[in-house]
Amino acid sequence: MQNSQTNFILIVDDTPTNLEVLSEALTDAGFDVAVATSGESAIKQIEYEPPELILLDVMMPGIDGFETCRRLKANHKTKHIPIIFMTALADTVDKVKGLSLGAVDYITKPFQQAEALARIQIHLQLQNFSVALEKQNTRLQQEIEERVAAELALQKLTQELEQRVEDRTKELSQAIHDLQKAQVKLIQAEKLATLGQLVAGVAHEINNPVNFIHGNLQHASCYIEDLLELINLYQTQFPNSTPEITKKSKEIDLEFLRLDLPKIVSSMAVGTQRIQEIVQSFRNFSRHDEAEVKKVNIHDGLNSTLMLIDHRLKTKPGYPAIQVIKEYGNLPPVECFAGKMNQVFMNILSNAIDALEELMGDMQSFGHSLSPMIRIHTEVVGGDRIAIRIADNGPGISEAVQKRVFDPFFTTKPAGKGTGLGMSISHQIVVEKHGGSLYCISSLGKGAEFIIEIPIQQVQLSDPSWWESPDLSQNSIHSQTSPLIAQI
Ligand SMILES: Nc1ncnc2c1ncn2[C@@H]1O[C@H](COP(=O)(O)OP(=O)(O)OP(=O)(O)O)[C@@H](O)[C@H]1O
Ligand SMILES: [Mg+2]
Repeated sequence: MQNSQTNFILIVDDTPTNLEVLSEALTDAGFDVAVATSGESAIKQIEYEPPELILLDVMMPGIDGFETCRRLKANHKTKHIPIIFMTALADTVDKVKGLSLGAVDYITKPFQQAEALARIQIHLQLQNFSVALEKQNTRLQQEIEERVAAELALQKLTQELEQRVEDRTKELSQAIHDLQKAQVKLIQAEKLATLGQLVAGVAHEINNPVNFIHGNLQHASCYIEDLLELINLYQTQFPNSTPEITKKSKEIDLEFLRLDLPKIVSSMAVGTQRIQEIVQSFRNFSRHDEAEVKKVNIHDGLNSTLMLIDHRLKTKPGYPAIQVIKEYGNLPPVECFAGKMNQVFMNILSNAIDALEELMGDMQSFGHSLSPMIRIHTEVVGGDRIAIRIADNGPGISEAVQKRVFDPFFTTKPAGKGTGLGMSISHQIVVEKHGGSLYCISSLGKGAEFIIEIPIQQVQLSDPSWWESPDLSQNSIHSQTSPLIAQI
């Protein structure tokens, strides 16, 4: 029989004749053959130079074929080598036992040479296949491992990428947040400066002319009195005046003029006095000259602010006037940036008026009417703080809107009407600038109430970095009093 590659076979048998016959036949068939005469020596030999197939006799002195097989199968280095038992023809028990111990086949003695060779060939082929399969398996296993590793690497890379995207998104949203804060700061500075300057400028410009009108009115009133006295004197001294004088007197209705002129002058004085009060309110409101904290009367600030928005409170065609109920408590002078606090009052009051106007408009279109009201309540809380509560009986604020009321640029008003900065600026002024708190109590349909609390005395004075870390989510509630809106 031809054998393309030389396979190495070990024959284990204690009978020299058997060894001789077999080894000759196998050598002739082209195999490399080694022999061992006992189980022990076979095991040693196999470890030293493993064959590709073992022909193993059962009956041997020392350890028999079965034991040899068991040991070889128990050793991971030798367990894969196919073993063919050599047994006596009739010995069925041996055959079964051999196979159950892991042998691949058996050949019977005396040997049928052709059959033995054929079996050996088949098992060698099978062995080759299984080795090739094993190799392929290993390669596949390796490939799988490589793929798993690649997948893991990809997963790691994806995770890293996701992390980087997340980090960048965080950085970006922080940048946007910072930018918004900077923008608010700019607009706030500009808004306050512009309004403050405008109001202060107007107050200044009006102040002088009004003062001299008011001052001169007194002189004018004295002169008029003198002139009227002189006319009286003429009339008594010269009762028979000329026709021309009599005609002129009738023309100008001298008697009425004499009675009305002093009234006109005194009403002009009332007018100028009112202008002077407004000018004073303007000044109070802007507190333009005051960059430092000062002890002020908070009620003055509230009144000045109300004076500035007075025109918005009055009756308008189709709308009733908005009633302002002042519940001023007994407040001590409060240390604060008065101009800025007035700005807060202005923002909150303007929002209340906006809300009331909106509700009045809606109710009118449904044929209902409303008694619009703004209630301002002040009191000392906890001994060292004051609370200013401003409530309206407008439409109220939904929970969703309440969450965002203090966010910069958040507005529910039509474009052009609101910038959405009023409350965020107010929050910064109260919380950051004064170490106070500003929060809102409201529910839809039940009006809205804004509560400002600031310390009576400022702990740390003007901090130039107050813009740097405004935390808009900080709306802690300190006041224990029940909501003012419940009373409206
Ligand atoms: N008293 C209130 N009643 C109902 N909604 C209110 C009231 N006060 C504030 N809001 C709601 O809060 C939003 C934000 O108010 P904020 O004063 O910050 O901005 P704005 O009034 O819309 O615009 P801006 O004040 O900059 O002109 C308002 O658009 C409004 O929806
Ligand atoms: Mg507003």
